Amino acid sequence: MTATIIVGGFFGDEGKGKIISYLALHDNPSIVVRGGVGPNAGHTIVHDDKTYKVRMIPSGFINTKTQILIGPGVLINPNVLLREIEQLNIHERILIDGKCGIIEDKHLHEDTSEFLKNKIGSTGTGTGPANSERAMRTIKLAQNMESLSSYVSDIPTLINSALDENKIVLIEGTQGTYLSLWHGTYPFVTSKDTTASSICADVGIGPKRIDDVIIVFKSYMTRVGEGPLKNELSSSEILNMGFSERGTVTGRQRRAAKFNICLARRAIMLNSATQIAITKLDILFPDCVHTTIFRDLNEQAKSFIKKLEDSLHVPITLIGTGPNLNDIIDLRDHTAKN
Ligand code: GTP
Ligand code: IMP
Ligand code: MG
Repeated sequence: MTATIIVGGFFGDEGKGKIISYLALHDNPSIVVRGGVGPNAGHTIVHDDKTYKVRMIPSGFINTKTQILIGPGVLINPNVLLREIEQLNIHERILIDGKCGIIEDKHLHEDTSEFLKNKIGSTGTGTGPANSERAMRTIKLAQNMESLSSYVSDIPTLINSALDENKIVLIEGTQGTYLSLWHGTYPFVTSKDTTASSICADVGIGPKRIDDVIIVFKSYMTRVGEGPLKNELSSSEILNMGFSERGTVTGRQRRAAKFNICLARRAIMLNSATQIAITKLDILFPDCVHTTIFRDLNEQAKSFIKKLEDSLHVPITLIGTGPNLNDIIDLRDHTAKN
């Protein structure tokens, strides 16, 4: 396994950041590269006693030996990027593509419009207006920004050369399948496609070079912003079930519903997923928290996982049992779930 993509199967915030950071530490990839829209994403990574929240930097930064890259399809807000580079002290090992589009103040301003901010419930991070300007072919690129010049490189060449040398590359998607501009709940979606095929294009790798597509589902569903959420729970049900969460970027309360098998099946199809990661099993079954061995799960939790796998026909290989990146059951080497 050399090239693996990680994508979200629902409406974003499935816990991709935690899964990617675990894989980055455990599998020791040479490269972790980010695709996706831009700083509208917010990954939370908990390692040892520290909690990191990143909007631009790939979650794989957690492995200090890994080179971290941002592909040309990703929009960059230079202020956010430079601040995160500084905070995480990763000047030496981050590179961005010269063709990344740049988010400017005017895009942030346009993202506060009545339509985007209130009707769609955008994150207000300027990504929609910037992608719109990219389509008009007038957006500024990273290669024209003096403040970014020391980080600019040719990301597709770096990734493809690493794969030629059989090195391990992790490709990080952001948002989720049903926020896709093509496949999501239009118009309540983000400003481009978010499925695995587009994540490939974002970083400059052809589909035939991908070995695995890991789709991440939370063990229930959450959604921030507007748009349909079938069987949406009321705020008191959300509280009672322990599903209450707030957005990493906007701090908004996330809406919630139980796991939807039909949506999950379709997301697997749209992404040609080869493996499933389920996060937050500890929220459904609190006594599973921090468990790292499948047989230590209680019978109800085991049965939840087995039933999901039987209905989805794709192996569940990673199970999140807590916010820390090591709160995980890794079944990739031994799929026997007994
Ligand atoms: P986007 O890229 O914005 O879509 O976000 P994301 O998929 O990286 O998810 P995000 O970090 O925004 O939200 C997931 C939340 O769940 C974070 O607060 C994580 O710390 C937390 N989390 C992830 N996995 C687990 C888990 O297995 N158990 C628990 N309790 N929390 C988890
Ligand atoms: P935009 O991407 O900021 O234009 O927002 C469009 C829609 O996508 C809104 O409903 C946002 O809440 C949602 N969205 C965008 N990025 C994320 C994300 O990373 N996690 C969850 N929702 C997101
Ligand atoms: Mg998030």
